[in-house]
Amino acid sequence: MAKGRPSTVFFCNECGYESSKWMGQCPACKAWNTMVEEPTVNTTRSGKSGSSRLSIPEPVSIGDVSLNSLERFQTGMSELDRVLGGGMVPGSLVLVGGDPGIGKSTLLLQVGRNLSQSSHKVLYISGEESAKQIKMRAMRIGQMSDNLQLLCETNLTLIEDVIRKHKPETVIIDSIQTMFSENVSSAPGSVSQVREATAVLLSIAKSMAITIFIVGHVTKEGTVAGPRVLEHMVDTVLYFEGDRYASYRIIRAVKNRFGSTNEIGVFEMQSGGLVEVSNPSEYMLSGRPKDSAGSCVVCAMEGTRPMLVEVQALVCRSSFGIPRRQATGTDLNRVNLLMAVLEKRLGLKTSECDAYINVAGGMKMNEPAVDLGIALAVVSGFDNTVISEDTVAFGEVGLSGEVRSVSLADSRVAECRKLGFSKIILPKANYDTMPAEMKKNMIPAETLSDAIKAIKQ
Ligand code: TYD
Ligand code: MG
Repeated sequence: MAKGRPSTVFFCNECGYESSKWMGQCPACKAWNTMVEEPTVNTTRSGKSGSSRLSIPEPVSIGDVSLNSLERFQTGMSELDRVLGGGMVPGSLVLVGGDPGIGKSTLLLQVGRNLSQSSHKVLYISGEESAKQIKMRAMRIGQMSDNLQLLCETNLTLIEDVIRKHKPETVIIDSIQTMFSENVSSAPGSVSQVREATAVLLSIAKSMAITIFIVGHVTKEGTVAGPRVLEHMVDTVLYFEGDRYASYRIIRAVKNRFGSTNEIGVFEMQSGGLVEVSNPSEYMLSGRPKDSAGSCVVCAMEGTRPMLVEVQALVCRSSFGIPRRQATGTDLNRVNLLMAVLEKRLGLKTSECDAYINVAGGMKMNEPAVDLGIALAVVSGFDNTVISEDTVAFGEVGLSGEVRSVSLADSRVAECRKLGFSKIILPKANYDTMPAEMKKNMIPAETLSDAIKAIKQ
């Protein structure tokens, strides 16, 4: 350690900001009381692995790089492959974040099983559970192959040796917060340990061209515990989310060096593990009430995939001066804005009403295309108009009450038709660009009042 260098530094637990002194508020992410004191990391790594890398590397011209290195392996779960950008890439580091109990270990054990069945060597390293506990989970999931090996260990030096000796093709680390490196004196789970552990795993993944999945727990604020720094280091960051009380789970790419970050994968947690939901719209719409007012089906895009969800609105007279507004699964400001548009442009007296908006099924929809559906659900809830169950709407609503065009209208329409919706209310600008044969049973809306007329017919 350099002379005069302080022996401890302060890290922000939220964003990883480093400072030589303690501060009440982190200057980078503005969080309060998140600075923690940790010893400075001694970055000189000992061991055999480092010395072999000391030979002078040769640069290669970009034309000579063979693309074989980007060959992908299928995980056996098409929903996960879609999020990874078409399968996992050898030599990549994938961070899977999520709340405790959401199903990260289950997902990765299933991936391990699928891969090992196609004679792919998988090493599952757990620092949280004993081999017996993992075996119990594995028995719920189903038949395992001998190519899936277990290791219960938290010491990274030993883990590195095991990986170099056994040469697995895929490694699963459950979880990064339990791993510790002897080079760092702070406790496992601290910012510097998590950082160091990730750096070690990164060098293993790149030097041996193996895929490493890392499980990361999420803090109550929703970031992977401790370090956003970790997100910069890995190739792919996946978040596993879902309502604890609903059985479906969504996996979402937040960062992906090998694919798009728009994609989501949908799963359902069942007694035998996670099952892929290949048609999420059907799943989200199941159990929808028939002939009830205050409900409208909308079509929103999640990445390149259209998804139909039901928006519900409960609108009732307010008994206080300031009406109460609440939105679950969508942006409250957007709801307030749409209600103001309805009041000003269509004369609906919404300012005297409480309104509760809910996206059924626990999905979060923040795309502008759900505007029209929210507005129609409010109108329907306000004057008890029942929107027929074969109606679906999408479109962005502007401040003057106009319905503006949205992207990817064709795939939205195709999804609506696939699910048997015969009446599609869509922006006129999108309607005009559609081929004549698709225009059957479509209702183009130029303004919000066109759309309202259509639901009242
Ligand atoms: P787990 O994978 O242990 O979560 P994490 O690793 O993210 O903390 O999943 C835990 C939950 O999943 C637990 O509440 C039990 C449930 N579960 C099922 O419903 N079915 C199953 O087949 C399995 C293995 C778990
Ligand atoms: Mg777990």
